[in-house]
Amino acid sequence: MTESTSRGKFITFEGIDGCGKTTQAEMLLELLEKQELSISFVREPGGDPISESIRKLLLHSEEIMSDRAEALLMIASRAQLTDKVILPHLLNGRWMIADRYADSTLAYQGGGRGLNSTALEEINYFGTYTLKPDLTFFIDISVEEANKRMSVSRDRIEKEGQEFQQRVRDFYTNLHTKEPERVMLINGENSIDAIHNEISSIVSEKLIS
Ligand SMILES: Nc1ncnc2c1ncn2[C@@H]1O[C@H](COP(=O)(O)OP(=O)(O)OP(=O)(O)O)[C@@H](O)[C@H]1O
Ligand SMILES: [Mg+2]
Repeated sequence: MTESTSRGKFITFEGIDGCGKTTQAEMLLELLEKQELSISFVREPGGDPISESIRKLLLHSEEIMSDRAEALLMIASRAQLTDKVILPHLLNGRWMIADRYADSTLAYQGGGRGLNSTALEEINYFGTYTLKPDLTFFIDISVEEANKRMSVSRDRIEKEGQEFQQRVRDFYTNLHTKEPERVMLINGENSIDAIHNEISSIVSEKLIS
């Protein structure tokens, strides 16, 4: 990084399946692009050829996958994406929006599957090259509402039932309580436009001054 270029901001979207992450991430991307900000978007797991191959294994594998293999593959995919895409862009002064990041591993493999969260935090720390988002939007909706919104074809993890999704949601709620300055809790049951306005105001207030 040269002295004249400050690091770009890193914004992530989190929440249970179907809460509206992709909808809101794309709307924010479009808004910030219109403001002529240099910004890119990635999705997790994926966002790079190697990470996309790992995504196929993770979401569409027919075999029974061990919980730890699932966690390690998620983090492997993230390490690749962070090293090859996210960090180089941020260090060049470009902003990045990620549709899921490290908090998803804590919420799904920790909260959802019950793996040891201290172990997951340590491996995440390694896999992210210690990068943390500047701002995270946790879009919160009930499991019932999420089920109404989700498409008929579900991936391997989306097929895990309501109790699993509830544990993931509870984990995110606790994360917001633990890190209220970074993890913004957004009521995802409001209208798409109302949520977008709320998110844009927070980004302006916290990251664009
Ligand atoms: N605030 C909202 N009110 C009603 N419907 C919404 C709202 N936000 C998104 N939706 C709709 O819900 C569905 C799921 O939204 P979206 O794909 O953005 O969720 P997601 O969190 O990215 O899901 P996934 O975890 O499966 O990727 C879409 O059909 C979308 O149009
Ligand atoms: Mg999505």
